[in-house]
Parts: sequence; C-alpha cells; structure tokens
Amino acid sequence: MATWVIVGASRGLGYEYLKTLSANPSNTVVGIARTPANVTKQLSTDGLTKVKMVQGDMDDYKSLNAAAEEVSKLVGGAVDYLIINGAYGGNNEEITMLSPTQLVGHEEQLRTEFNQAMSTNALGPLFATNAFLPLVRAGKAKKIVVISSGMADMDGMAMAGIAASVAYSASKAAVNLVVAKTALDLKPDGIAILALSPGLVTTSGSDEAYKWMTQAFKGYEPNFKGPITTEQSVKAQLKVIDNFTLEQTGQFLSHLGNKRWLSANGEGDGVAPGFE
Ligand SMILES: NC(=O)c1ccc[n+]([C@@H]2O[C@H](COP(=O)([O-])OP(=O)(O)OC[C@H]3O[C@@H](n4cnc5c(N)ncnc54)[C@H](OP(=O)(O)O)[C@@H]3O)[C@@H](O)[C@H]2O)c1
Repeated sequence: MATWVIVGASRGLGYEYLKTLSANPSNTVVGIARTPANVTKQLSTDGLTKVKMVQGDMDDYKSLNAAAEEVSKLVGGAVDYLIINGAYGGNNEEITMLSPTQLVGHEEQLRTEFNQAMSTNALGPLFATNAFLPLVRAGKAKKIVVISSGMADMDGMAMAGIAASVAYSASKAAVNLVVAKTALDLKPDGIAILALSPGLVTTSGSDEAYKWMTQAFKGYEPNFKGPITTEQSVKAQLKVIDNFTLEQTGQFLSHLGNKRWLSANGEGDGVAPGFE
C-alpha cells in the first residue's frame, strides 16, 4: 500500500499518473491542480472516483503549503511518493522557436517567458518539495521525483542541434541543480530525490511540433521513430522510480533509467500511433 501525490495533475502526463496509479487498488492517489474542479469532473467521466484532488499552484508557495495541510488530513499525515510534474512549456511559440541570437528585438517577450519558466519549473518544485516534506518524512518510501526534460542535457542538445526553446531548457537545467542540492540536504534523512525526463510524449504539443522534434532528435538518435504515449511514458517512469535508490539521489535520469533521453526503436518505452 502506497500513498502518492502528483503535483500538476490536470492533464497530460500528470493526469496519466492519476489514471495509472489509481488502477492499483492498494494505492492512495491525490492530485494537485490549479483548477481541481475540472479534473474532478474528468476523473468522474473516466470512472476514477477514488482519486482525490486538491487546489495548488506551483507559482504560489502559500497555495502549496495549504495543499499539503489538506492532503495531510486526507491521507493521515504521510506520503510515500511525491511526483512534481507540472511545468510551464511556453505560451509564446514565436519566442520558443527562436535560437538565442535570433531573440534580438524580442527582449521583453523573452524576459516574460524566462521569468515564467523559472518561476514554475525551477522554483515551483522547490516550493512543492518544502511544502510536502513533513509528509514525505513520515512516509515509508521517502521518494521525491521532479519531472525534468532531456532538453536540459547539453550533450544531447548539441547532438540534436536544437538551439531553440531557450527559456524552458534553461529552467529545466536549473531544476536539475535544485534537485542535486536538495539531495545533499535530504540524503542523511533517508529521502531520495530524482530529476526524471519522461521522453518525448504526445501531450499538449501540436502534430507539427512532434514531427519537427522527431526529425531534430534523429540527430541525437538516428533510429528515433517518434514520441511515445502518456501510458508508455508513465509505465517506464514508474519502473525507474521503483528502482532508484538513496545512493542515486540527486541524479538526472531518463524514463529508460539512464542517460539516454530517447530510445532507438521504442524498446523499453514504445512509440505513439502514427509514428510506428
Ligand atoms: N510531453 C513531453 O514530450 C515532455 C518532454 C520532456 C519533459 N516533459 C515534462 O513532463 C511534465 C509534464 O508535461 P506534459 O507534456 O504532460 O505537459 P502538459 O500537457 O502541457 O501539461 C502541463 C501540466 O502542468 C500543469 N501546470 C502548469 N503550470 C502549473 C502551475 N503553476 N501549477 C500547477 N500546475 C501547473 C498544467 O496545469 P494547468 O492545466 O492548470 O495548466 C498541466 O497539468 C512537465 O514537467 C514537462 O516539462 C514533457
């Protein structure tokens, strides 16, 4: 029996975590979302009535502290696994697609994108970790997972030749360091924390964006076929979460459990329909 909290659980991979985990009747699953009522409606449509939703915004540490208090009452004061999934992926596609030197003339939009990405993606996980830490300390598994991105891997980006997505990538690199430092803090207490890349996954991106990324990532992995589904990613991620130990705390790993951010042919993860 394990208690899971998923922060940023309204859709995409976060919602898939709610679905996959709640399929095991021995799990207690709580989702945190900015607008939980919408998610509760979706859960009810999907017949997932066991999952509880609580309001919380990764940009607002007070809301996360309040969420942790509410969760504590719901689950009896202990959480085994804290999964911090939510992220700001960029609202301004024009800015996202530009490389650093193409951003001349877009300074103010870039500043807005950068500040938002840093707030949600680097600071948000730190706030969420601190808010839920007393509950994780009281849990048995004592594992915290921050969902990061292969876009933060400098060698991988060099191989793929992807100079765009500056703000998002920098915020994910920043959170990897936050995770590494938090690990130093928490290791003596037996709490492990991991930065985990989910692979390229079909969620909120457009078909065009996935096709563009699939092509670009062939520079990293020539036999890369395309994105995986949320089911395939969460299944692979859960294997990594299950296997990672206190000795590995602070690391940045992929859904394959290593430093390969994408697989050659779907082995170990899969491939989404349309990309087989
Ligand atoms: N999909 C991929 O290929 C991919 C690749 C690498 C890494 N990732 C990472 O995987 C994680 C999930 O990505 P996804 O593709 O599932 O994203 P998504 O479909 O765009 O969903 C983003 C999620 O983050 C939540 N969120 C955003 N800002 C938040 C805030 N301030 N407080 C609380 N929740 C917030 C959103 O909630 P709202 O509904 O309230 O906006 C939504 O649930 C992210 O960390 C992302 O960076 C994804």
